[in-house]
Amino acid sequence: MKTILSGVQPSGKPHIGNYLGAMRQHIAHQKNAKCILFIADLHALTTVRDREKMQQQTLDLARSYIALGLDPKKTIFFKQSDIAEHSELCWILNCITKVPFLERAHSWKDAKEKGKKEMSVGLFDYPILQAADILLYQPDIVPVGQDQKQHIEMTRDIATNFNNIFGETFKLPEPEIEKEVAVVPGTDGQKMSKSYGNTIEIFANEKELKQQVMSIVTDSTPLESPKNPDKCHVFQLYKLIAPKPAVAKMRKNYLKGGYGFGHAKTELLHTILAHFKQARAKYESLQTNDAKIQTILKQGAKKAKVIATQTLNNVKSKIGYL
Ligand code: TRP
Repeated sequence: MKTILSGVQPSGKPHIGNYLGAMRQHIAHQKNAKCILFIADLHALTTVRDREKMQQQTLDLARSYIALGLDPKKTIFFKQSDIAEHSELCWILNCITKVPFLERAHSWKDAKEKGKKEMSVGLFDYPILQAADILLYQPDIVPVGQDQKQHIEMTRDIATNFNNIFGETFKLPEPEIEKEVAVVPGTDGQKMSKSYGNTIEIFANEKELKQQVMSIVTDSTPLESPKNPDKCHVFQLYKLIAPKPAVAKMRKNYLKGGYGFGHAKTELLHTILAHFKQARAKYESLQTNDAKIQTILKQGAKKAKVIATQTLNNVKSKIGYL
């Protein structure tokens, strides 16, 4: 059985882009693989500087995954900061990695280009912590978004470098990138992302959800005219979650005319509510049960700790610490 590992930053309310781009695969894998999923709260410290926010966003992400079907009996689900081995291995890998190698990371270059003032050492070191996250658990596959592909390649380079210096230690992981829905449009047509403020949140209340869907930007083709579905963000989103026959029907409606964007938005809203009905109910029921979420994460950490300790002991012995 393959081991599949991924990490997710606790960066606020999950939206449909998060779900289609990553969360859905993470949960689906638990059927036929050994799954490890953690909340990357050490990585989050590169941006989050607020105790309340750190705690709430972490709990909220955990609650969301469980509501969407993550089964903690099948997936080892934990918080990165509960396992000190991540930071420890990160230091070891820091010592064998060269500065120019890290300077090539897109994430670092982007931050520099944007002229971000508070670029921390942590932000620079981000890919090495990610390599430590991965290598500690020796996964076969790491499912990630397209934007993370380079970090997996860097992980492979770092692992190869360690193996060359200290002898065969780390297995090289393969990235898995979901191509089909690589880009989920947001309400303004750009890629759906919290940083653009164009998200449709899975667990927003019905009123907010309606507002978000109704705010999707459309052109000014009059109601009675035929419309091109492939140029419309409402249809693009609908296509990603509605059943195939319903999608075919909406396509016909667009092409024949007499069907307005308002109609399409209403159908999209109903489909979102139907698709996430169970998950939304479960999320609601977990809202008042933070203790349960915390227990799940602690139990996951216990299991993760066993694997992480084993790998780190092997690493330490290769270096000469044990
Ligand atoms: N950097 C990843 C992101 O922002 C999150 C992450 C941290 C991760 N560690 C990881 C993903 C290890 C995969 C494996 O999406």
